Amino acid sequence: MHDDDAFTNPRAHDSEALDQLIARRLSRRRLLKGSVVAGAALSVPALSACSPQSGSSDVPAPAGSSISGRFQFQEIERGSDQTHHVPAGYDLDVLLRWGDPLFPDSPAFDPHNQTAVAQSRQFGYNCDFVGFLPLAPAADQVPRGLLCVNHEYTSSLLMFPGVAADYPSSMTAERCAVEMAAHGGSIVEIRLVEDRWQVALDSPYNRRVMADGTPMTFSGPAAGSSRLAIGSDPSGTQATGTLNNCAGGVTPWGTYLLAEENFHGYFQGELNDDHPETPNHQRYGVPGGWFQWGRHRDEFNVSREPSAPNRFGWVVEVDILDPQSTPKKRTALGRFKHEGAESVIAPDGRVVLYMGDDERFEYVYKFVTEGRYDPDNRSANLDLLDHGTLYVARFEEDGSLDWLPLVHGEGPLTRANGFASQADVVIETRRAADLLGATPMDRPEDVEAQPDTGRAYVMLTNNTLREADNVDAANPRANNAFGHIVEITSPDGDHAANTARWDILIQCGDPADPSFEAVWNPETSPNGWFGSPDNCAFDAAGRLWVATDGNQATGAADGLWGVETDGPLRGTGYAFFRAPVGAEVCGPRFTPDGKTLFLAVQHPGDGRQATFEAPTTRWPDFDPAQPPRPSVVAIYRQDLGAIGG
Ligand code: FEO
Ligand code: CA
Ligand code: CA
Repeated sequence: MHDDDAFTNPRAHDSEALDQLIARRLSRRRLLKGSVVAGAALSVPALSACSPQSGSSDVPAPAGSSISGRFQFQEIERGSDQTHHVPAGYDLDVLLRWGDPLFPDSPAFDPHNQTAVAQSRQFGYNCDFVGFLPLAPAADQVPRGLLCVNHEYTSSLLMFPGVAADYPSSMTAERCAVEMAAHGGSIVEIRLVEDRWQVALDSPYNRRVMADGTPMTFSGPAAGSSRLAIGSDPSGTQATGTLNNCAGGVTPWGTYLLAEENFHGYFQGELNDDHPETPNHQRYGVPGGWFQWGRHRDEFNVSREPSAPNRFGWVVEVDILDPQSTPKKRTALGRFKHEGAESVIAPDGRVVLYMGDDERFEYVYKFVTEGRYDPDNRSANLDLLDHGTLYVARFEEDGSLDWLPLVHGEGPLTRANGFASQADVVIETRRAADLLGATPMDRPEDVEAQPDTGRAYVMLTNNTLREADNVDAANPRANNAFGHIVEITSPDGDHAANTARWDILIQCGDPADPSFEAVWNPETSPNGWFGSPDNCAFDAAGRLWVATDGNQATGAADGLWGVETDGPLRGTGYAFFRAPVGAEVCGPRFTPDGKTLFLAVQHPGDGRQATFEAPTTRWPDFDPAQPPRPSVVAIYRQDLGAIGG
């Protein structure tokens, strides 16, 4: 993500009495029952070897592990250099690079002559979420599917030649329009030809969704609210694009969800102290001023359109099987810095979406649909996300968790507190959650449910602004530079329940340095630990994989690790992929057969003072005439077995 040091939650520094703090720390120790503090003795019961799922038995056990776990590959080594690394026995293809064609008429990539028209027909910048929806084979029986890729943001200095010297005045209207076209998402059909995925330019499904020029509607409780109205849309029902699409989801009915994350960064101008939206905007950090679009466009300037920021911070649903469909901003899911929107079906058929609000001291949410998923009637599912209940999590000291409903008229969410309707509750989701007493977390990012166990995992990236006087059991470290992963266990596997239990799976960072208070299974090798978990995925075998954004703080590149969640190796990490310098790793997405892993390599070549002319790497082309290009890669096992063994 595009990071800064800001946080906006006024509850961040609620102080705690010292005795409470001590009690919390003791309770935390009790809670870490599944993990072991590094260096402590571990009693390991004898295990029979876990055989690889398919094929090769000569893939070595993970380095550093004396017992067999669920992952079977040779770990790669920690480090940082200009290219990527995969384990022995694996291949990597660069599948889609920034600027690659998506349609038969797409112009060739020419970074020295970028136009918005060309970019609108090409793969966008800074790929993040990756979704995969298998399609039924055509007459040729070639396996095929739709890849859905978010383009979170643009890195102006890396993207455009010659803009660094006079930035930001160098950001002309046309360059800003190129940036808008490089945001959003790409939907592209891929086909498996000779065991390798290829882009199908002739597919009728291929589509770009952008920050401008993509008509959308608002649906759900905030649609039509006067608080969404701007000059070009007095009805508050019509949008023209989506931005800062970080992670997302693919629903059980085959639609694509794009989460709008750091929308505040796109607004310039001045807040008027007397304007009724000013406290709301301040709670979200608006205007962030990261981008120059507001110099050219009123809807990104709060001086001219003070309600415009209320039109972002939503989850957008796109019916990718209907390329002519109009995307919908699903306001029932709340408005915050949405990281992702992965779903799971509860035992009674309701759909549950877990969502993080990625900022220091923000909250974990879930949405439970009112209606039930109907696997036999796709069209009946298409508006499930307009009706249901949004909840925010309160992590109790005793390991219990309460899901608190954000429902207008209940508890403090009343007109007396400025909530005249459910529209106000969802527009000001953060303030509503503040009043309910939700637990401020250490940057909640991806949250995903394991498909079989009734458990969900929350990636908490880091929070160096948490101080000793406001740690709690679920966020137990002051100056949390490396983040942690929280496990949520729903009762009887019912993700729709309004209570759960929680535990800490790992506390990231180097377990060899006691001052970090890292918590890993001691079987974790020197390569197997990491910092700043961001995105996660479960593979076909139900194993957890974690990608990082910020592992550079540990002195090594970002990457992807397998993490054991069960048994005596619970809390053990294994290094699988390393990104080139400057890049974070996003996406992770496995094909349903587990044989292909797609990863998004975002902002390769970035770094302090990195520019188009002087990036930190020119991955993946290594052509002196080309800038680094954010890309989606496909990883295969050479023997065509399942990724990870
Ligand atoms: Fe866009 Fe939270 O990372
Ligand atoms: Ca992220
Ligand atoms: Ca994910």
